[in-house]
Parts: sequence; C-alpha cells; structure tokens
Amino acid sequence: MEWIILILGTIGHVGLWCVVFNRVHATAFPRKFRKFSEKAILVIVFAPMFWAFYLRIRIPGNSFADVISLPLITYYYYAVVGLGCLFVIRWLYRKFCFKLPSNVIASKTEYLNLKTELKAPLLHGRLPRLLGLFPFNEVLLLTLQRMTIELEIPPELDGLKICQLSDLHFTGEVDIRYFERVVEEANQFEPDLVVITGDLIDHAKCVDWIPQTFGKLNAPLGVYYVLGNHDRRIRSETFLRNNIHDSGLIQASAKWHQIEFNGATIQITGNALPWYRDAEQLPEQPENKAGLNILLSHSPDQLDWARRRDFQLMFAGHTHGGQIAFPIIGPVVAPSKYGVGYSSGTFRFDKLIMHVSRGLSGDETIRWGSPPELGLFTIRSNQQAKSNQAPQ
Ligand SMILES: [Fe+2]
Repeated sequence: MEWIILILGTIGHVGLWCVVFNRVHATAFPRKFRKFSEKAILVIVFAPMFWAFYLRIRIPGNSFADVISLPLITYYYYAVVGLGCLFVIRWLYRKFCFKLPSNVIASKTEYLNLKTELKAPLLHGRLPRLLGLFPFNEVLLLTLQRMTIELEIPPELDGLKICQLSDLHFTGEVDIRYFERVVEEANQFEPDLVVITGDLIDHAKCVDWIPQTFGKLNAPLGVYYVLGNHDRRIRSETFLRNNIHDSGLIQASAKWHQIEFNGATIQITGNALPWYRDAEQLPEQPENKAGLNILLSHSPDQLDWARRRDFQLMFAGHTHGGQIAFPIIGPVVAPSKYGVGYSSGTFRFDKLIMHVSRGLSGDETIRWGSPPELGLFTIRSNQQAKSNQAPQ
C-alpha cells in the first residue's frame, strides 16, 4: 500500500508540473519569463517530494506512512495523491475512449529516413550533433501522412488536395537540405493548396533560405501561411513578412481569402493568437456563402475561436506531438491550454475537423515517438458520396 501511495504521489507531482508547464507555454508571456517559470515550477513542485524522501531516509526505520503522518504533510501529500488518481483516470479515459473520428475515411503513413538517404551531415552544432547520436532519435525521420477526410461540402470540392507544413523552425541546426527535401516531397503530392501553420524561422540568418524552400512550393490555388510564436524571434515582423511575400506566399490572417475550385468557393483565413493579434481584425464573413471555410491556426488552442465561426476544417501545429512520446503513456508535455489532449492528430467537433500536425522540426533536435510530419489531405464531399449511392 505504501508503494501505491508513493507511485500515485509521484504521478501527482509530475502531472502537476506538466499541467503548469503546458499552460505557461501556451501563453504569449515573454520567453525569459517562461524559461524562468520552468525552473521555478520544478522547485516548487518537486521540493516537497524530495523533502519527504529526505525525512524517509534520515531516520532508520522511518516509513512513508510515518513521514506523511507529520502535520501539514498529511494534507499536502494526500492532495497530491488525489491529483495522481485524477491524472490516471484522465489518461485512461483519453487512451480508451478517444476514437479516430469517422470523417477520416482512409489513412496511409510512409517513412523516409533522410539521415541515411541524404548521407551528408544534416545536424550542425555540438548539442544537435550529440542529440543526433541518441538511439531512436526520429528528428530526421520524415513521415508522409496521407489522409482522406469526408466533409459536408459541395460535390464540386470533392477531390481537393491540401498539403500542410508546420513548425519548420529554421535555426541553422538542421541543414537546409532537409527542408529542400521536405519541399520536394510536398510538391510530389501535387496538392491544389498548401498551408503552413507557423514557426517558420527562428533565426534571422535563415531568412535567406526562404526562396530555396518555401519559394519552391507549388500549388495552383496558392501557398497560405500564418506565423507562430518562434517567428517573433525575428525582430522585424515587416522584414520577415516582406521576405516571405517576395517568395510568393500569402499571409492568411486578418482577411477572408476567396479562391475558386471547380466552380465552388473556398474561404481561408488565419489565426496566430495570442502571439500575433491580426486575427482580431478579421471582418465578418462575406455574404456569399463559401462551400468550404478553412482556418490556419498556429495553436490548437484557437479551437473555441474556430467553433464560434463557420469553419469545417482547421489546420494547427505548435505542439510537435509533444516531441517525446513515451511508450504506452504517450506525450506528457505540449504547450497548450489543453495539455497533451490535442498534441497531434485529427479531431472532430460537430461539423469542424481539426488536424494538429507534429510539425517538421523543432527548437531541440530530439524526437522520440513523434517523428516529423508532412501531411496531405484529400477532401471528399459527403454529398458526392450520397449522389454516387443514389439509385440510378
Ligand atoms: Fe513550433
């Protein structure tokens, strides 16, 4: 019994740390504050646990039951044990009660090991190279994720192909050849539309990479983007946006972009709240109703914003699938107000489908159980399906 209480207490402490960490990193607080808070939370949450361990071993024969029978510690410790129980129940619910939404009617995953394929060193800097040596590090294991999604849209939009890129994080630590290869694969999908959901460039020296990477993306309906929190590291937003614009990309936020496909209208807009506030200037939807409304959002946290509007499809990134997903347990850290609830995958909320990409790179060159993702989404009209089923 003592060990069960100890394990639940430990889960409670770790869970508490993850909950606070995830919520702090979902905000637009300054980076320095967030980095400081990481350490402060670590001390506040774990210090009582280490103190209990210290009391346990200080006196020979002292058990955890003795330690937690001390005044104050009793209340504190059982509160954390209760929290641990809640985390376990929540995890079990998510693990066994969350099903893939029925709107995903087909899915195919293919892996490209760019570390072996491109041969030349793709990681630069002492730490990235060291992390690259870690066994099973998937940072260069590109996943080609093809999905077919059924939506309530006009039959004219049946067969629309959308490619999503997210969280490329140009830092200079991952070689440009990796990203050029990603773009080649994106073009081989032959998408009608390309969407980029933020965190394009972390370091100003990589702005020069834009024409060779984003600038090479091909899609007849255009390449639309929103920025992400890491793009704020480029001091001048105008400088960054001008460079992106010069390579032919279209900023999605702050207006409704109307595009025609097979005689039907698609509307696109973007949202990079809380880091960029241009989505707050978004006007009301145009009167003429579009067949499909698409939202590009950097974070899945804008889900409620999307649900209050008339979107059928929302693309997001930011969470990197937790970047490290433990076997059975899954990811524990994701910078979202929903924690790891929507850290990656496809989720349905009434008529809205949200896909959260694991992204293509990251600040740290380590990934386990969460390889980089390049997505292709083929959209099927359920009205088309109904007309196919109708008796002749
Ligand atoms: Fe990111």
